[in-house]
Amino acid sequence: MPIFFQHQINENTRLGVWKIEETEEFFKGNVPLHREVTHPHKRLQHLAGRFLLQFLFPDFPYQLIEIADTRKPFLPDEQYHFSISHCGDFAAAIVSNNKRVGIDIEIPVEKIGRIMYKYLSAKEHELFNLIPGGENNTAEMNYDEPTLLWSAKEAVFKWYGNGGVDFRRQIQLLKQHEGTETIDCFFSKDESELTIHYRQFEGLVLAWVIS
Ligand SMILES: CC(C)(COP(=O)(O)OP(=O)(O)OC[C@H]1O[C@@H](n2cnc3c(N)ncnc32)[C@H](O)[C@@H]1OP(=O)(O)O)[C@@H](O)C(=O)NCCC(=O)NCCS
Repeated sequence: MPIFFQHQINENTRLGVWKIEETEEFFKGNVPLHREVTHPHKRLQHLAGRFLLQFLFPDFPYQLIEIADTRKPFLPDEQYHFSISHCGDFAAAIVSNNKRVGIDIEIPVEKIGRIMYKYLSAKEHELFNLIPGGENNTAEMNYDEPTLLWSAKEAVFKWYGNGGVDFRRQIQLLKQHEGTETIDCFFSKDESELTIHYRQFEGLVLAWVIS
C-alpha cells in the first residue's frame, strides 16, 4: 500500500498522495473505470486517483460519480466534494464532506518555466523574484518555484470547477509564506480570498485549496 503522503486536514477533510506501483489489475478489482482512457499509463493514473477517494473515506460512493461538461467529476448530492490530480507515477486526491476542494500535483519540468509568462502576471514575476522573458532565460533556472506557482493556480482552477478561468488575470497570487507553506491568493472571478496550501517534496510539488 504505497501511500506516499497522507494528511488529515481536519475531521471533515482528508488528503492523500499515492505512489503508483501496482498493476492495472489491482485497481480494476477495486474501482470502476469512469471514462474511456486509451493510454495505459494514463488509465493507471485515472484508476489510482479514483482508488484514493475510497482509501480516504471508505464510504465514498464511486458509482455515483458524474462528469460535468467542464470534465470535473462530482457527486450529484454533494455527500463529498473531491478533487483528483496525477503526474508521472503519482496520484493525489482530496476529499471533504463540507467544503469545496481543489488539488494539483506536478513534477517540476523545464516546460513550466518556459511558459510562465503565460500564467503569471508581471506583478507576480516581481513578487516571487522570477525573471520574466520566456524561453531565453530558462537555461539556468530552477523550476521548483514556477512549478509551485503553476500548481497553486491549477488547484484554484479545480477548486472553482466551472472552467473559463484566465490564470494570469483572475488568479492573483499575492504572498508566499514558507513557514506555514501557504500562498495568499485573490480569485477575482468570484471575488474570493483563498489560502493555497502546498508541500514540496524531492521532485514533486503538491498544492491544494479548501474553501
Ligand atoms: C482540467 C485540467 C485542470 C487537468 O489538469 P491536468 O494537469 O491535465 O491533469 P491532472 O492530473 O492534474 O487532473 C486531472 C483530473 O482533474 C479533474 N478535472 C478534470 N477537469 C476538471 C475541471 N474542469 N475542474 C476540476 N477538476 C477537473 C479530473 O478528476 C481529472 O482526473 P480524472 O479524469 O482521472 O478523474 C487542466 O487540463 C486544465 O484545463 N487546466 C486549465 C488550463 C488553463 O486554462 N490554462 C490557462 C493558463 S495557461
